[in-house]
Amino acid sequence: MTARVAAIGVALALVAGGASACTRQGPATSGPGPTTTTSAPPTTSGPTAPPTSEPDPDLRPSADERDVDDPVVPGLGDPRIDVSHYDLTLRADPGQDRISGTAVLTLSAVTAEPLDDLTLDLRGPTVDEVEVDGEPARARAEGDQVVITPAAPLQPGEDATVRITYGGEPRTGRLLDLDIPTGLRHDDAGGWFALSQPDGTRTWAPVNDHPSDKATWRITLDTPTDAVGVANGRLTLREQEGGRRRWVWEVDRPMATYLAVVAVGDYDLVERAGPAGSRVLSAFPTDLGERARLPFDDLDEIVDEYSATFGPYPDDDLGVLVVDDRLGVALETQTRPLFGLDALGTDVRQVLAHELAHLWWGDAVTPATWEDLWLSEGFATYSQWLDDEQHGGPSLAERAASVGGTDVPVHSAEAARAIGNEVYEGGATALVALRDLVGDDAFDEVLRAWFERYEGRSATTEDLVALATEVTGTDLTTWAGTWLDAPQPTYRPR
Ligand code: TRP
Ligand code: ZN
Repeated sequence: MTARVAAIGVALALVAGGASACTRQGPATSGPGPTTTTSAPPTTSGPTAPPTSEPDPDLRPSADERDVDDPVVPGLGDPRIDVSHYDLTLRADPGQDRISGTAVLTLSAVTAEPLDDLTLDLRGPTVDEVEVDGEPARARAEGDQVVITPAAPLQPGEDATVRITYGGEPRTGRLLDLDIPTGLRHDDAGGWFALSQPDGTRTWAPVNDHPSDKATWRITLDTPTDAVGVANGRLTLREQEGGRRRWVWEVDRPMATYLAVVAVGDYDLVERAGPAGSRVLSAFPTDLGERARLPFDDLDEIVDEYSATFGPYPDDDLGVLVVDDRLGVALETQTRPLFGLDALGTDVRQVLAHELAHLWWGDAVTPATWEDLWLSEGFATYSQWLDDEQHGGPSLAERAASVGGTDVPVHSAEAARAIGNEVYEGGATALVALRDLVGDDAFDEVLRAWFERYEGRSATTEDLVALATEVTGTDLTTWAGTWLDAPQPTYRPR
């Protein structure tokens, strides 16, 4: 446990002195770990087939496959449906333990046959009422899921509107092997915030809680008049009426559930023009003043750098959200990465460079299963190394050489569960090794093509290997076998 905590401490550059165990730093040691064979994720598109929005008929789930078959976080999501839009209204008052809300989901069945029922993830709050296309529907709780039976079966490919009212106390979970609560929780000042990767969004709204299903979102926060509500994307409306405030946030690029963020409390909203015509809107706890703001002045420079290397920043909205709590991690919540107080005392540039890289790797291009986590963390760590190298830090080769190999394959359920140095530094090392193999220019072309082809979508490790093979015209079987699918050797510079 300690080794893994230390590993993430290194990865995220959250350093000593914090109350949270996760801020401790130390050598990323680990004993011999179990090895695994990786299973082929179900959602992959064929190696050379360009992604399409129509599910491949042969890959369509059957009517009794109720959960996404995820090797790392099982029991989540319903593979038989595709949610295209979440319109959520959440009432969350500081100082109270109960929340309530209304969720309106636009979704369709992706099965071959009409679908009799569907499941959504919801943990803590319970459902009061469900309507499907305006007709009352039956709903029953089954563990942390709600099984909804519409009056008439869902017709594949046809949009249905599912409206759910719900309420109760969010029941937080644990961040895989780390001792960090996930989901909607109170901050140190009594406000609310959500730290949701991998499965915390279901603590405050009924969702198809798996990264293979991305959607557009509208999040309305209904707050007391002395509170501010913050979420992802663009603030399109704030109004005050009947002793309440309403904050409407819209995300018009597909977003995975774990990347949704909400916060309710005492925030200053600071808005300005940002890089490449974007709007930067950041939220800082009012009582922290300048101390919370200054570290984020590098945002524009980093986003410009990445835009030039990976392709233009994919959204119009940007910013950071700092919460009044020691998180132990930062999180790449879409358009508005989330930082805790502990991030402020450290080398914020590194953490910021890491989280901003996720806006491309993780947010725009999302791992299709949790076993593909390295696609997010390895790419973000590589980008962070690149930023550091460009500003006087160690070279990519030096960083990769200092990793010293991994005990389990970077692309494995074990590595993903540990959220440690395998997916972070090991993932980045795999990319440095690929760069050595194909050359700097071809490697940059792979990154750009990866972003361009899969922006707004979820993708698998197989998709990456296929795309890199196609772009470089190089057989990458040995590279994948050495750096992804077996414990890594120590990297030696080319
Ligand atoms: N994604 C975060 C980062 O590296 C870290 C993190 C938070 C995380 N929660 C997680 C990683 C859950 C994996 C799973 O910036
Ligand atoms: Zn990360």
